[in-house]
Amino acid sequence: MSTNTVDNQRKVTTIRLSEMKQRGEKIAMLTAYDYSMAKLIDEAGIDVILVGDSASNVMAGNMTTLPITLDQMIYHAKSVIKGVSRALVVCDMPFGTYQGNSKEALASAIRIMKESHAEAVKMEGGAEIRESIERILCAGIPVMGHLGLTPQSINKFGTYAVRAKGEAEAAKLISDARMLQEIGCFALVLEKIPAALATRVAQEVSIPVIGIGAGSGVDGQVLVMHDMLGINKGFSPKFLRRYADLSTIINSAVSRYIDDVKTADFPNANEQY
Ligand code: KIV
Repeated sequence: MSTNTVDNQRKVTTIRLSEMKQRGEKIAMLTAYDYSMAKLIDEAGIDVILVGDSASNVMAGNMTTLPITLDQMIYHAKSVIKGVSRALVVCDMPFGTYQGNSKEALASAIRIMKESHAEAVKMEGGAEIRESIERILCAGIPVMGHLGLTPQSINKFGTYAVRAKGEAEAAKLISDARMLQEIGCFALVLEKIPAALATRVAQEVSIPVIGIGAGSGVDGQVLVMHDMLGINKGFSPKFLRRYADLSTIINSAVSRYIDDVKTADFPNANEQY
């Protein structure tokens, strides 16, 4: 086995992600919410699996990420963890479980780690949630930050449009990114911001910066699995590249199955006992 093969099979840790940034190796991250899909993408070699609160949209059919609960996130993360042997598994802290106060935030993060066995948590926001992040970090729980478009604040933004186009918002984002690095976050997601700003942040901070709709100058990319596999066809922002058309494949397979059942073609003599 070559050194490269051994390295590719090694468990991904927060330290390995930092090493990847240092040597300029891009980090590939995708969301997953269940055992079977997590197993498939882990076997394909994904570096980081995010149990995103986008489960609220793509699994539960909600319009926003706000309704998903801590119990539901733990359920998804627990299922994902069982299918993964190599990727680092990060679980989103859902809306309402960390914004109130830092003790409540720590209690929520501890529940995620203890009950799901996820390896890190992700939290949306900067200076406003600093105390909560610090308390969680003090307990030895790795935290991934998330700045730019933060979907849990959709009711404040009023739109899912590109963030930090203006000087003031860009300056706050840069200062929040520096702060997240200083207090000890191991990585940072930047969502839907101008590519030049994301590149600048990735150059200024030493922690890995993972982008979604943030251009190519960052240290890695993340997409929602249902979007990139073409399961969720209703969502097609400019930044999304579709790698498969699973909705067409599934529709065709199910239509053929229905026909076969209706015409009594299925099951045939070899498909019964
Ligand atoms: O919940 C999620 O899927 C996310 C990604 C879009 C980064 O936070």
